[in-house]
This record gives sequence, C-alpha cells and structure tokens, in this order.
Amino acid sequence: MRRMRRLRAPKIRDMVAENSLSCRNLVQPIFVDERASEPRAIDSMPGQFRQSLESLAAEAGALEDLGIPAVLLFGLPACKDESGSGAYDPQGIIQKAVAAIKENTGLVVITDLCLCEYTSHGHCGLVRGEKVLNDETLPILGETAVSHAAAGADIVAPSGMMDHMVRAIRAALDVDGYMDTPILSYAAKYASTFYGPFREAAESGYAWGDRKGYQMNPANFAEALWEVQLDIEEGADMVMVKPAMPYLDVLRAVKDMFGMPTAAYQVSGEYAMIAAAAKNGWLDERAAFLESLTCIKRAGADLIITYWAKEYARLGL
Ligand code: PBG
Repeated sequence: MRRMRRLRAPKIRDMVAENSLSCRNLVQPIFVDERASEPRAIDSMPGQFRQSLESLAAEAGALEDLGIPAVLLFGLPACKDESGSGAYDPQGIIQKAVAAIKENTGLVVITDLCLCEYTSHGHCGLVRGEKVLNDETLPILGETAVSHAAAGADIVAPSGMMDHMVRAIRAALDVDGYMDTPILSYAAKYASTFYGPFREAAESGYAWGDRKGYQMNPANFAEALWEVQLDIEEGADMVMVKPAMPYLDVLRAVKDMFGMPTAAYQVSGEYAMIAAAAKNGWLDERAAFLESLTCIKRAGADLIITYWAKEYARLGL
C-alpha cells in the first residue's frame, strides 16, 4: 500500500525536495538617495533602508561577502523635472552608484530603467496634458540605458511598460558598442496595488492619474504571454513577471511556454505584508519568507528579486 507520509520523515523530507533555494538565484534591490548622508529607514518596509552614496559601497560589500550575486539599483535624485533628465545624466545618482559598486565589489549590477523616479509628475514616460506618451519616451529610455552601461551596469532592466521599449533600448545599446549588455525586461508587469510601499521608498508616486494605461490589468493572463513574446522578439535576454506571489500562474506559464531565463519580483507590498504581520506577532517572518521564496521558485523563477535576499543569505542555509 502506498503511504505518502513515509518520505515526509525528518531528513528524508529534505532529500526528496523537488525545489530548493540558493543565494545564487537571489537579487537584492537597493535604493540610493542622492540627498542622504547616511542610510535612512523606509517606514513602510521595516528592515529596509535608502542608502547614501557613501554607505552604498559598504552595503554592497556586505551582500557580496554573504554570497548574494547581484543587486537591482533604484536612484532617488535630488531634483526631478518634466522630462526626467536625471535618469540619463552621466553624473546622475544611479550612474554614480553603479560606478561606486563596480569599483568596490564584483557584484552583478542591474539597473532599473524607468523615468518615474526622475519625473516631477511621477509617470514612467513623458507626458502631454494627462497623456503618457509612448514613442516620444523611447529615445530617452535608449539614452538612459547607454548611460547606465557606460557607468558599468552589467544588465539593464526596463520597467516602464512602454511599447517597444526593449527594441529601442537594444538598438541604442548596440549603436554605442554595448552589444554585450543584456536586457532583463519587466515584461509582464501588472498595475498592482502591491507597489504601494515602493512608491514611498523611491519617492516615485504620481501626481495625477494612475499607471493603468501602461501597466497590465491584473485580470489578464493571455495578455501576459503576448507581452513576454513581444519583448523576446524585440531582444529581451531575460523576462520578468511582477509582482510574484499573486501572479504565480503567469510565472509558471511564461517559464513553460518560452523557456527563457525568467525572473520574478517579490515586490514591496509582498514584503510589507509579511513584515507587518510578523511585527504584530501574527506570522513567523523567517518561515513566511522562506516559504514564499520556495513557492516562487517552484512556480518557475530562475531569478528572484526580493527584499529578503540579504536576510536569506544571513541564515547561511
Ligand atoms: C518603476 C518601478 C516600480 C517598481 C519597480 N520599478 C514602481 C511602479 O511601477 O509603480 C515596484 C517595485 C516594488 O514594489 O517593490 N516603474
């Protein structure tokens, strides 16, 4: 008689586990604040900080020592304007941050490539009236990508959900000689409430409207597959599904259908939910994040972008 519980005995259970986590697959997001002179706590994400340019190198070094291979960088510029010019300024916060990390560590540096942290209105593209412009934004994304690569970025990760952004960025990188710089596209990125805490962390909230005109409708599944296919056709080297936990069905389908290196982004709201419940004593934080990461892996993620990367590495599992 088959008894499934035989293999659930201590030790045996782990030997037959179908999936396991490793630091090798984790990416730690880092916020770098041009105005900060020391790390500043992010209230909505207990345990997370905005780094200053000075504190960044030490933080990156600590991650490297712990075995985390890569970071995803977000910049908070001192000044914002209508066209997001801080995004492609060769002396901008993100460009300086990339250089500082590359000088001090061997980490793989991935840069988030979007205008929303740099525009005064907080949208991910140029705007006219209340319209977020698509094609007019593309050259700026190309220029931004080149400035990241010139600063030393290893991978650029466009997150603005503009149509044809991957093609524009690939072309711009190639023309300037960065044909070996990979693109990790936020391909299936949903218009999610779970980005709430990030907008505080990155001070990238929008002045009016919302992002539903460019990010995907959470009700849609088939559309995510078109999005991913288009980005692959335009030259994406890796694709992402974001957020992670509420979209594991999409993640599984993307991995199965395209077989591409696939990333999942466990976003700020996913982090905040568990962190807040743990603060109240309602969840065991460690067990909850380990379970969530394991399930994201099980659903097909090759890479997981998670605010718990450092914490996971610290456990030395
Ligand atoms: C920029 C961007 C956002 C996130 C990553 N890149 C915010 C947004 O699209 O509104 C969210 C990440 C998180 O919530 O952790 N476009």
